[in-house]
Amino acid sequence: MSNTDFNDMAALSGLDAVKRSIASAAASVIGDAQRATENATAGDLTGLHIADSQTGDLNAELINIGVSGVTGVQANNDGLSADTPAETDGVTGVTATAASKVPGMDERPCFRVFDDWVEHDGGKYRPGVWHFGIKPGKNDAPSTPTENRVCSPLHIEAVTFDGQDNNFGRLLRFKNTLGRWREWAMPMELLRGSGDDLRGELLAMGVEIDPTAKTLLANYLQAKPPKRQMRCALQVGWCGDSFVLPDAVIGTAASGVIFQSGERGHDEHTRAGTLEGWREEIAARAVGNPLLLLALSASFAGPMLARCNAEGGGVHFVGDSSTGKTTLLEAGCSIWGGANYRRSWRATANGMEGAAALFNDCLLALDEISECDPREVGAIVYALGNGRGKQRAGRTGSARAVTRWRCFVLSSGERTIATTMQEGGHLAKAGQAVRLLDIPAARVYGAWDTLHDLPSGTAFSDAIKRAAVTHHGHAGRAFLERLTRDGQDFCALLERFKGLAEFSAEGGEGQDKRAAGRFALLALAGEMATEYGITGWPEGVALNAAAEGFRVWRAARGSGNDERWQILNRVSGFIERHGDGRFSDADRDGETPIRDRAGWWRDTTEGREYLFTADGMREALKGFDFNRALDALQEAGALSAPGADGKRAKPERIKARGSGAVRLYTIRNDKLGGDHGAG
Ligand SMILES: Nc1ncnc2c1ncn2[C@@H]1O[C@H](COP(=O)(O)OP(=O)(O)O)[C@@H](O)[C@H]1O
Ligand SMILES: [Mg+2]
Repeated sequence: MSNTDFNDMAALSGLDAVKRSIASAAASVIGDAQRATENATAGDLTGLHIADSQTGDLNAELINIGVSGVTGVQANNDGLSADTPAETDGVTGVTATAASKVPGMDERPCFRVFDDWVEHDGGKYRPGVWHFGIKPGKNDAPSTPTENRVCSPLHIEAVTFDGQDNNFGRLLRFKNTLGRWREWAMPMELLRGSGDDLRGELLAMGVEIDPTAKTLLANYLQAKPPKRQMRCALQVGWCGDSFVLPDAVIGTAASGVIFQSGERGHDEHTRAGTLEGWREEIAARAVGNPLLLLALSASFAGPMLARCNAEGGGVHFVGDSSTGKTTLLEAGCSIWGGANYRRSWRATANGMEGAAALFNDCLLALDEISECDPREVGAIVYALGNGRGKQRAGRTGSARAVTRWRCFVLSSGERTIATTMQEGGHLAKAGQAVRLLDIPAARVYGAWDTLHDLPSGTAFSDAIKRAAVTHHGHAGRAFLERLTRDGQDFCALLERFKGLAEFSAEGGEGQDKRAAGRFALLALAGEMATEYGITGWPEGVALNAAAEGFRVWRAARGSGNDERWQILNRVSGFIERHGDGRFSDADRDGETPIRDRAGWWRDTTEGREYLFTADGMREALKGFDFNRALDALQEAGALSAPGADGKRAKPERIKARGSGAVRLYTIRNDKLGGDHGAG
């Protein structure tokens, strides 16, 4: 293909004439005809000259035509001096040596990167990427040199691509506005169109781009690719035996891999304070606090999933407000990063894909399920389960690579997963409910069992919150340093943990077994972190916490079912006893005199509905926590989800009461008897 283009150009311009005219012009300028003729190859001169003779315009455009997508010409364009070592240095970003600083006419056109000020021939060049070109003279006038600053110092270090020869990029190393060097693997696709997105990212990262040199910048980035090649990972997580984080790759083969993303600096996996500080102020306080141990173990469990060939999933801390649930998540996050690590459930199912790419093989912390549209919860739980995003169509209509992921999830909320999903009109399928295991955050002091000399649950939570701000981001990396070099058979090890009596799901269903497996993994992760010297916990502490987690999960599930059954029974019994005496037809003209009215009834195609007054509902549910009981009714489908105002008692028109509406709880009688044990 490049040949064709090349030939077209050659035919168009009269190759030989062009070659001769440029070569001799250059020779006359630098006074070395011999060398110029040798160096000048057909391609570069042709490309340049066509552009010039057709547009007679900006140097930038000359190069553009010479380079844009025409491989043969591109190489040659570079090739003017690519034959000389100096040029290779200039392009691949090795600091310019004195000899190669400002190129002679025979080396042009070419790019040079100056890390510092350069003085040459009485002139001074600012640090940065420079383009040195030639402008052929009109008629017989000699060519003149041109020079344009493209941007602040930026070296192209390596070609990057994923394992499948796709997602090509360039590893860039550049000096930002503050004079600090940093690296970024730039996806080449950002150069598409006018390249605005790319410039936006570079500018945001502190590269200064000369406004008139937009095209030159694109040319520079696509100039002859450096020889060094690296594998790029588009997701956080395992890439072969290495573990990729946005700013670091950990493992024995780490130097060949880099995280590549179209977005600038990710601020999730950040670091602050020290590992020792984290161990003293967070890990040490977990001893005696099973939920905190669980949260921390969960955080280490992310990278273990792949090593153990285990399915993704997680635990959901359920409890009243201000018990320390968010604190548990913050503690878990402190293993990997700072305040930005924790996500909110508010993320939509679409946003999940991006989040999962950042937290793949890692911890995904989703706080406060009530902030999420209940209709989305099901989709998110589903996405977490199947580990892949919605198929996205590329611009050409082709299906783009699907982001896959596997995370360990820590979640929190005042409602269980099933209740929340039910609000969105979905009955949690058994598989979904077991994907995120509900763990009640109801211990001795809120979420805590032991306060470690702190005066209250509040003080304990606040101390953990503070510590997570001060010390974070170290433990996870230290864990990976060991895990990436640990050749143990973790699948076999996990099987051994699963076989422990603590995780026996005897007498339970298949779901109990899956849950037991999840807790066994938590135990394994926590114990490995201890063995690697990261947590400072005594041996067995994490294992016991996981066992306790399994126990309370089972208890909550059992009693949850049991309680729900009692609630449904109670309401259906109430209707049986009082359905005729204390309720009347809602659609009948004229008020039926009723003593101690509990509500009305109405026949629908789906059976009889009982419209309870608030007092009637409270009476029927006496002895149960009112809101939890309503949750249970809702979970069973006997009570519809709250309206837009968040209230479950909804305005209903009662014929005898005239045009005004009365707030009533509508209970579907047919749902009280049937499948309430399920779940
Ligand atoms: N165990 C507890 N006992 C009493 N108050 C607590 C407890 N945990 C947290 N709090 C209070 O609630 C605030 C919020 O803590 P947080 O962990 O975000 O609670 P949650 O997410 O459970 O609502 C804390 O700053 C503290 O004042
Ligand atoms: Mg909270």
